[in-house]
Amino acid sequence: MVFGKKRKTPVRGLEGVVAAETSLSFVDGQNGKLYYCGYDIDELAEKVCYEEVVHLLWFGELPDQEQLDDFRSELIAEMRLPNQVDELIRRSPPNANPMVVLRTALSALGMYDPDGGKNSEAANLRKAKRVLAQVATIVTSLYRIRTGRPIVSADKSMSFAANFLYMLNGRTPKKIERSVLDTVLMLHADHGLAASTFAARATVSTLAGVHSAICAALASLKGPLHGGANTKVMEMLEQIGGAERVKAYIDGMLASGERIMGFGHRMYKTEDPRSHHLRKYSEKLCRHAGLEHLFEISQQIEERVRKLKGIYPNVDFYSATVQAALGIPKEYFTCIFSLARTAGWIAHIMEQFRDNRLIRPTSNYIGGFDKKFVPLKKRQ
Ligand code: ACO
Repeated sequence: MVFGKKRKTPVRGLEGVVAAETSLSFVDGQNGKLYYCGYDIDELAEKVCYEEVVHLLWFGELPDQEQLDDFRSELIAEMRLPNQVDELIRRSPPNANPMVVLRTALSALGMYDPDGGKNSEAANLRKAKRVLAQVATIVTSLYRIRTGRPIVSADKSMSFAANFLYMLNGRTPKKIERSVLDTVLMLHADHGLAASTFAARATVSTLAGVHSAICAALASLKGPLHGGANTKVMEMLEQIGGAERVKAYIDGMLASGERIMGFGHRMYKTEDPRSHHLRKYSEKLCRHAGLEHLFEISQQIEERVRKLKGIYPNVDFYSATVQAALGIPKEYFTCIFSLARTAGWIAHIMEQFRDNRLIRPTSNYIGGFDKKFVPLKKRQ
């Protein structure tokens, strides 16, 4: 028996394995740079709204004003949920993780989508617009329901980010809130072949549809080693409580081999360019929101972790305090990440469909051979 005995050394965590070609985003981990379709994110930050970045990722170019207006109107028009999905959200257990509700509601949306079962480019684009818009509505509806307030419908005179805040808080957002959310969404929109993006591409490589792939991506993003880290960061800041306790906390965690949430990255060997922007916002917004102590604790943590481990904050670290300062409860942080990254997932799904081959890696079999079968009655 030779089958299964020839082994290749597996690449743990698939580090460095090239599993796709993409023209969507490039992570330059050595130089701490991130590019979307050729644009350095440092160039885009504070200059573009989220819809412009979605347009860039889906169509390969930034829109002109007319294209932007049309695209925005199309997205806002899709920001409503079928009654059945609204009902499902209302009936979800009050303490269910919002990411679980989001994933479940998104899965249910697949049953009601008029293009369900169709995978043509045109059908996928229609589904893409609905899914992106509906992710926003699932998250805001859940928050409104759980806080005992009526659901707010989208306002077609507002941008995507402004609508999200409007539907969340029931008031027109301030300019600063809108522009920060635009930048937060832009910074999270795509990031090469992250675990969740790989999950989405692997799922559609079987010709399963957009909703299935987004569910797979949401399931992957939820984990604390990926997008779930932002909620864990806030839990850590709350647990530490004051800047004077940072040293003891971090030293204790590292001495016992624990990971500091919001630090380290597979790709970056230097500062994550996204955290550079988020740190700046965190400082400004925390000051406005009376949360200076959270920014101060964050800074002390960054200093200590860099000194002891030589690792940098990733996107999840300062996004925690930015979101907290925007008034978003920590349980919803990963949902905001999901909303942003849905743009990237969809772009990857469409790219995968255009040149698809089943993604099917292999494994080394390390079990036994030639075992003697024992009938059930004789097994002990
Ligand atoms: N805290 C402490 N040590 C860390 C951390 C951390 N956050 N991250 C990495 N390390 C250390 C590891 O202990 C390991 O040290 P060793 O070589 O002495 O054993 C070394 O750095 C390499 O770690 P790996 O786990 O091999 O790195 P990998 O690339 O597999 O992991 C990951 C990357 C999962 C992001 C890791 O850095 C981590 O667990 N970070 C905390 C969770 C987090 O913030 N996740 C969000 C990532 S960004 C995103 O997905 C949006």
